[in-house]
Amino acid sequence: MDYGPSPESQKEALAWLDQHQRRFGLFIDNALTEPGSTFASTNPADGKVLAQLTQASAADVDRAVAAARRAQGGWEALGGHGRARILYALARLMQKHARLFAVLETLDNGKTIRETRDVDLPLVARHFYHHAGWAQLLSEEFPDYRAVGVVGQIVPWNFPLLMLSWKIAPALAAGNTVVFKPAEFTSLTALLFAEICQRAEVPPGVVNIVTGDGRVGELMVNHADINKLAFTGSTEVGRSIRKATAGSGKKLSLELGGKSPFIVFDDADLDASVEGLVDSIWFNQGQVCCAGSRLLVQESVQERFLAKVKTRMSQLRLGSPLDKSMDLGALVDPVQLQRITALVESARTEGCEIWQPRCDIPPAGSWYPPTLITGASTSAAVAQTEIFGPVLVAMSFRTPAEAVQLANNTVYGLACCIWSESISKALDVAPQIKAGVVWINTANQFDAACGFGGYRESGFGREGGREGMAEYLTPRAEDARPPKPLRAALKEILARDTAASVPVIDRTAKLYIGGKQTRPDGGYSRAIHAADGSWLADIGEGNRKDIRNAVEAAHKASGWARASGHNRAQVLYFLAENLAVRLVEFAARIAAMTGDKNPEQEVAASIDRLFHYAAWADKYDGLVHQPPLHGITVALNEPLGVIGIICPTEAPLLGLISLAAPALALGNRVVVVPSEAHPLAATDLYQVLDTSDLPDGVLNIVTGSADELARVLASHFDVDAVWRHDGSLEGCAEVERLSAESLKRTWVGGGKGRDWFDSRQSAGRAVLAHASQVKNIWIPYGV
Ligand code: NAI
Repeated sequence: MDYGPSPESQKEALAWLDQHQRRFGLFIDNALTEPGSTFASTNPADGKVLAQLTQASAADVDRAVAAARRAQGGWEALGGHGRARILYALARLMQKHARLFAVLETLDNGKTIRETRDVDLPLVARHFYHHAGWAQLLSEEFPDYRAVGVVGQIVPWNFPLLMLSWKIAPALAAGNTVVFKPAEFTSLTALLFAEICQRAEVPPGVVNIVTGDGRVGELMVNHADINKLAFTGSTEVGRSIRKATAGSGKKLSLELGGKSPFIVFDDADLDASVEGLVDSIWFNQGQVCCAGSRLLVQESVQERFLAKVKTRMSQLRLGSPLDKSMDLGALVDPVQLQRITALVESARTEGCEIWQPRCDIPPAGSWYPPTLITGASTSAAVAQTEIFGPVLVAMSFRTPAEAVQLANNTVYGLACCIWSESISKALDVAPQIKAGVVWINTANQFDAACGFGGYRESGFGREGGREGMAEYLTPRAEDARPPKPLRAALKEILARDTAASVPVIDRTAKLYIGGKQTRPDGGYSRAIHAADGSWLADIGEGNRKDIRNAVEAAHKASGWARASGHNRAQVLYFLAENLAVRLVEFAARIAAMTGDKNPEQEVAASIDRLFHYAAWADKYDGLVHQPPLHGITVALNEPLGVIGIICPTEAPLLGLISLAAPALALGNRVVVVPSEAHPLAATDLYQVLDTSDLPDGVLNIVTGSADELARVLASHFDVDAVWRHDGSLEGCAEVERLSAESLKRTWVGGGKGRDWFDSRQSAGRAVLAHASQVKNIWIPYGV
């Protein structure tokens, strides 16, 4: 039996292109502009030019941003219901024109019509419907939030329209206006979407679309009047965006690359796993950020499983993407073909075995056959680099522990598939995988209600779900923050002090690392002075080595992340209790350092805050979603890992507690750099910590220069997040810049102050969100 051709007609899509004389301008203020300087957009399946697109200039980007700015107030003021109506209209119109969009997407991208028609378009409509709902419920569900403002959105070419819907729907629901840039290879469906916006009566300026290459993206990244950037694409560009926006105050979400593991245990349904694998690595020619590109199969079934995989690979059909019976279409561009070919050839040179089924490659366009690589070492380029093509690298493991270790042996952390008929085993392994999405006995499932996004170098921020909405909102309490720190700036306080650095003496307050008081590595200490300028005490001058030791101690204390919320709450309550016993002593210390006339208030507020986060420790639960699949998706709030915290200069005790307690409540371990000017409230805490059952290494304190220690923390590859709240604008910018190397998460206060006594500004869910990341675990059942 063989397949006959089953071509989808391209007539309407080509007619639409012709209607525009195959030349497109930009979409600004609800009108298509005259084409400017143009570049060609081609059909990857035959290399033929489809249309000429405009490379937006700096003036164009300015115009688009200005249009978005003008429209933003009115769009937000339209209210949730008004916006919901328009998002609903968009959803309906997308459905009505689904086939035209699907065909156009296939022509432009090279992916099969089966995928654009059956996967991309239904999900696009679902995103607009779902977010029409969020617009409607916004004031109820996010009463203390407002829109971020004007949002710049940059997407890649692998899911052009789907990424558009993931970006535009939540942004509009929240009341933002957008400047959207499609990838230069695949802009056509975004331009068709522009017409849908006109028909849905989206007000002018709410959606603006600028086309062009990375230079247009850069113009957006550096634009002063954009409040938030949402980027999906390569880790390299994501990193450059993190650096470019450091210190700008722009909100940022990055959805980057991956090298996701596909784990098959020996008790898995092997035939179902093979089908899952096909969906995982050969879906969209493997040009998928969450593709299961690393197969980890248990040794006892490896041979059998790989034989099944090869048989199935031989049945995959590669050819015209418009043919409804094709499994694989064309790669997006010759540049991707070259990249994939080079990576596979490097594996061949290294002695790996490359297996490809017999496959007729069409004469024109860019194509690559489904490929299986075995015999690669764990450090080989093909095992570590995102290939972004239909190439699977297979390895084996013996035990579940080894599977976890291999799965996490990557800088990325986007997704993971686990195949096992033992739900107990699968659910035991899932939380151990450092990835934002875990699919159990399924693969590549997406839904608007379930957040999607990465850990580690796969980026930060989520798209979809409640957490995805939060990316496009700002707590109103942020607007109430004082423009400057409430007390004298650090520079002034330090200028008041006389001695900068004196040799270490016995009574110096030491550092607190791994549950022990330790002398600073450098053997130096610094003098701390009272508000009246008199000498108060010496404290240890921490350095790079001390931070490294503290980070190591924090990693050793990983058991804290697995302790129950109840357990962590008990420790935080106990800390509060022990602090209360010494209220007078702490108050006296604060008064001496800061000259505060009412220091008991700060200690009392610190005790209150410890109670606050002890209360949260066993209540910051995740959610269970019920997406349109027979099963559930469990959204777990997981700790980030090790967080470096630079405390505020003011409120030396309350500031520290307000930042360390939420981190600890959710299972993070912390390395705290106390107020540089007033660190004694922190060093006095050592005895409180010693008597509060806090496991060694969970909370580490390194005193010294905030700038220097922040730099070390932000550059440290084993630190998962850095928070800086000491009012240093340049210091916060530096933390963001340095964090780009390992793409760690940051939470910085910038040059503004914060009222640490005001729980709206300094406590609650918004803070807990900074201390956690959501992992969505998909669990289908009955299949
Ligand atoms: P890319 O990251 O360069 O492009 C993604 C988007 O960013 C495009 O719209 C592009 O115009 C824009 N862009 C490029 N440079 C920019 C800059 N400096 N500032 C702002 N925007 C910029 O990805 P590219 O070159 O298309 O693909 C290269 C590799 O990246 C692929 O082989 C793949 O490994 C990876 N990739 C990963 C994706 C993912 O979803 N994880 C998506 C696309 C690519």
